[in-house]
Amino acid sequence: MERLDGKVIILTGAASGIGKATAQSLHAAGAALLLADLDPAGEAVADQISSAGGRARFLRTDVSSEDDVARAVDLALTSFGGLHGAANCAGIGTAPVPFAEIDSGDWDRVLGVNLNGMYYCVKHELRAILAAGAGGSIVNVASALGATASPNMGPYVASKHGVVGITRAAAVDYARAGVRVNAVMPGIVDTPMVSNAIATGAYEGFLEAMKAAHPVGRLGRPEEIAAAIVWLLSDAASFVTGATLFADGGFSVP
Ligand SMILES: NC(=O)c1ccc[n+]([C@@H]2O[C@H](COP(=O)([O-])OP(=O)(O)OC[C@H]3O[C@@H](n4cnc5c(N)ncnc54)[C@H](O)[C@@H]3O)[C@@H](O)[C@H]2O)c1
Repeated sequence: MERLDGKVIILTGAASGIGKATAQSLHAAGAALLLADLDPAGEAVADQISSAGGRARFLRTDVSSEDDVARAVDLALTSFGGLHGAANCAGIGTAPVPFAEIDSGDWDRVLGVNLNGMYYCVKHELRAILAAGAGGSIVNVASALGATASPNMGPYVASKHGVVGITRAAAVDYARAGVRVNAVMPGIVDTPMVSNAIATGAYEGFLEAMKAAHPVGRLGRPEEIAAAIVWLLSDAASFVTGATLFADGGFSVP
């Protein structure tokens, strides 16, 4: 496994699913972690890492608030003395509706977290990484739906295409400064986001249809996405920037 010893990484969405698995993988790789999430359950993730001998702190953070994001980045700096990387995993789904029926409040809510939140995170993370002057790596969790579309998911699809735009724009702006910015594009992954959506009953037949839509014939596991994130954060990916890395079991291929 790639090593991240001595690296300080901020991780959003760390309380659940892909973010939680990424916290555990980054700890195993030797990084010090500032875990940020709206859900206070992120505290238990930090406690678990600390009791296993790792370095992790949690701050309750709403990524749709620029002040909250700035505070989380500051806490990473004051707690661990610098910032070398970020994994931006926080995100929310959307109720299934055709585009003409999208409620503008739902649009604002999804874009507020998935797109504006990503902008706040990347902006403040870049400032902190640049201030240290040693370069770094930022990984944004977009989605295979950042490059394609599934029916009735307008706000989510738009937000994830926007995450790819943020990633590419920031990558070209800071490549010469030694900061790499990449996106991971997961297929459907077995996390609470997916199981909670299925539990609402609004997605009848979704699970079987989604398994069939992935050439590998199954959903992804959170740790499979975490592995892609850790690789992009590591020096093993030193010539990779502005990339969209599909970890989607072939979902986007056919
Ligand atoms: N699960 C999938 O199938 C899938 C597929 C492609 C992309 N993704 C993306 O992966 C990321 C993680 O999703 P997941 O499946 O692990 O979901 P999840 O619901 O298990 O975890 C998402 C985390 O983000 C946090 N969060 C939500 N809103 C927040 C906010 N405003 N501020 C801070 N934290 C907030 C939640 O509290 C939660 O801990 C998301 O960006 C999601 O869009 C997921």
